[in-house]
Amino acid sequence: MKKILVTGGAGFIGSFLIDSLLALGHQVRSLDSLEPQVHPTGKPDYLNPGCEYLWGDCADPELVARALAGVEVVYHLAARVGVAQSMYELRRYVEKNELATAVLLEGIIQQKERVKRVVVASSMSIYGEGAYMDRAGNFVLAPIRLERQLKAKAWELIEEHTGEALRPVPTAETKPLMPTSMYAIGKRSQEEMVHAIGRCYGFETVACRFFNAFGTRQSLNNPYTGVAAIFCSRLIQGLPPIVFEDGEQTRDFVHVSDVVAALVRCMAAEGIAHESINIGSGTVISVKEVAEVLSQAITGGTVAPQFPGNYRAGDIRHCVADITKARRLLGYAPQYQFKSSFMEMLEWVKRQTVAKDAFTGALQEAQRHGVIN
Ligand SMILES: NC(=O)c1ccc[n+]([C@@H]2O[C@H](COP(=O)([O-])OP(=O)(O)OC[C@H]3O[C@@H](n4cnc5c(N)ncnc54)[C@H](O)[C@@H]3O)[C@@H](O)[C@H]2O)c1
Repeated sequence: MKKILVTGGAGFIGSFLIDSLLALGHQVRSLDSLEPQVHPTGKPDYLNPGCEYLWGDCADPELVARALAGVEVVYHLAARVGVAQSMYELRRYVEKNELATAVLLEGIIQQKERVKRVVVASSMSIYGEGAYMDRAGNFVLAPIRLERQLKAKAWELIEEHTGEALRPVPTAETKPLMPTSMYAIGKRSQEEMVHAIGRCYGFETVACRFFNAFGTRQSLNNPYTGVAAIFCSRLIQGLPPIVFEDGEQTRDFVHVSDVVAALVRCMAAEGIAHESINIGSGTVISVKEVAEVLSQAITGGTVAPQFPGNYRAGDIRHCVADITKARRLLGYAPQYQFKSSFMEMLEWVKRQTVAKDAFTGALQEAQRHGVIN
């Protein structure tokens, strides 16, 4: 039995992680600030009575010291998670993500009986564009698409010299990082901070680069993140999902149970100190397909997705996980795929009440800031 701290334990992934850790017989404490954007009605109803909850910010050193007392393993999942929002609330994102991580790490350094392992939540967003190959089968470092390309709705990545379309391929951890948002920059910093401080002070660290997680409990009120949750939230209000670009951009949707299984394995796996590991499903799905599948399931197709041609500056076209490293180091074997496992999420969604359509306001706000066109 280990004593474990989960930051962000009231959130989507953290809450499931807590359930699993408690079921395995561990003693778990959570530190969560109950961000109003994620939890507009306060404490969620799925909190686990077996967990000790502390309410407050990871950037609060006193609270962090209390949260760390006696702890051997830390899962640092707390973060603000809106990519577009991070481009105009810069300071807030640095405070809630990077500064909070620095405070947590200082707390760990100051512990007498130091934590043995820290697992930090990172993100596929740190890659920027995923990996691509040219026609000859050579890896190509695809640039971030320029504004004029997006304006012309020329969505796909093109080889600069030949004008040929590049072929997206699974993205491995070795791909050079090119974060294009404050959120993604923060995630890369969190990874690097945790690894550097762990190496220096002799505790083990692991960064899990999550791809698009889906499942129940993902906030339906947060219009800034979680494309499947945003689409569901709109559809249950009878509103069409708004799909950016032409919808043919592809992503990797990984079920929250697979994410949690990987996180649990990170606690005890040998030989993973200071590694960064992709956690995805390894399967490709377009955003258009996600919107259509959900629209069909929730409204019988009567409320169809809309494609007004909006795009987000710095957004990527394709990124799917290469999960070879997770398989090798963690024995990770994802059990779920989006199309065969989204119904459970839908049943849950139908039982939820969404206060109002927050997406339209968030979209307009991002457009006002020139972040979404
Ligand atoms: N869900 C995904 O698809 C996904 C993808 C990539 C990475 N991630 C990362 O995984 C982690 C968990 O994501 P999630 O989807 O569960 O998000 P979530 O918004 O559901 O949960 C995050 C929780 O952290 C809390 N929080 C935020 N900032 C805090 C702070 N400074 N101090 C204390 N608590 C704070 C929030 O109140 C919330 O309960 C995040 O670090 C996120 O960046 C998630």
